[in-house]
Amino acid sequence: MDENRHCSLRFSILVGKDVFALKMIKAIVRPEKAADILACLNNAGFRAATRSSVLGRGKQQGLKVGSVYYGEISKENITIVVEDGEVDAVAEIISKIARTGKDGAYGDGKIFILDVLRAITISTGEESL
Ligand SMILES: Nc1ncnc2c1ncn2[C@@H]1O[C@H](COP(=O)(O)OP(=O)(O)OP(=O)(O)O)[C@@H](O)[C@H]1O
Ligand SMILES: [Mg+2]
Repeated sequence: MDENRHCSLRFSILVGKDVFALKMIKAIVRPEKAADILACLNNAGFRAATRSSVLGRGKQQGLKVGSVYYGEISKENITIVVEDGEVDAVAEIISKIARTGKDGAYGDGKIFILDVLRAITISTGEESL
């Protein structure tokens, strides 16, 4: 690590500044909401995203319909990596669309935000999104 980077990193830690410029947002949402969320993110300029179908359970540990208990429920996982300063905008778009009813409901989903160390674009070899 060169001396300048070392100093600025140390400084950032000392003043409590977040040193990670990239964040990964993982949103686990109701399947019927995923297409709309991706369309709105696209319209807002967040074009790249990964979508996968998953099974999961939240705090309620699944769902009981009549006498049938479903331990895991189908969800869609939307993963998007953005600059630090864009996280709130993305989380807001996702929350707004993913929430059901006026006040939201159990099972509407969860958003996790993670630090990303590096991103490499394979075609060019650049460190970039
Ligand atoms: N702590 C967690 N760790 C990993 N995945 C989680 C966690 N909480 C929720 N999930 C994932 O998110 C999906 C949606 O969860 P859900 O909306 O039910 O969360 P919740 O915390 O139970 O909130 P709510 O009380 O609104 O239901 C789950 O099916 C699961 O895939
Ligand atoms: Mg739940």
